[in-house]
Amino acid sequence: MSGRFIVLEGIDGAGKTTQARLLADRLGVLLTAEPTPWLGGASPLVRQATPEGSALLFAADRREHLARVILPTLASGRDVVCDRYTPSMLAYQSAAGCGIGWLTGLDVDRVRVPDLVVVLDLDVAVAAARVAARDGQAEVLHCVAEGYQLAERALTAHGWRFVHVDANAPPD
Ligand code: TMP
Repeated sequence: MSGRFIVLEGIDGAGKTTQARLLADRLGVLLTAEPTPWLGGASPLVRQATPEGSALLFAADRREHLARVILPTLASGRDVVCDRYTPSMLAYQSAAGCGIGWLTGLDVDRVRVPDLVVVLDLDVAVAAARVAARDGQAEVLHCVAEGYQLAERALTAHGWRFVHVDANAPPD
C-alpha cells in the first residue's frame, strides 16, 4: 500500500520549512524538499537561466526527485512530507513571466499528485518584513502570492487538493 504524500507550500517567510520539519517529526515520516541537492538547490544555473529555462530545470529536478526519492519511499508504504513541489514552480515561474498553462502542462500529467497540499497563508506585508530582514527579496513576494492563487486554480482543476493554514499564528 502506498504511503501518503503531503506537500507544504507558501511564500518566502511563511515558515514552510519549519512546519514541514515539525509535521514530518510528528508523523515520523520522510522529510524532503525541492529544489534538491541534485539541482544544487537554488543554484547559479537556475538564477542565470531565463524564466522558461529555470522552469525546465525545476521540472527536471522534480522528475529526478520523484524517481530517486519520493516514489520509492511511497511504494515502500512510508509517508513523505515535501517542502515545495509543483505549486512552487507554477507560482514562482508564473511570477517570472511564464504562462500558467504552459507551466501546468510541464508537470500535471507526469508527476505524482499529492494526497494533500498544505498552503501556509501569511499576509504579504508580514512576509515582506520577515524576508527583507533575511535577504532583501521582498518586492517579488506580491507577484509570487498571486502566482500561488493561479497555481491553486490550475491544479484544483486537475483534482489536486489544497488546504490553507494561517501562518500568522505562532509555529506550534
Ligand atoms: P527555499 O529553499 O527557501 O525554499 O528556496 C527555494 C527557491 O526556489 C525559492 O525562491 C522558490 C524557488 N523555486 C522555484 O522558483 N521553482 C520551483 O519549482 C521550486 C521547487 C522552487
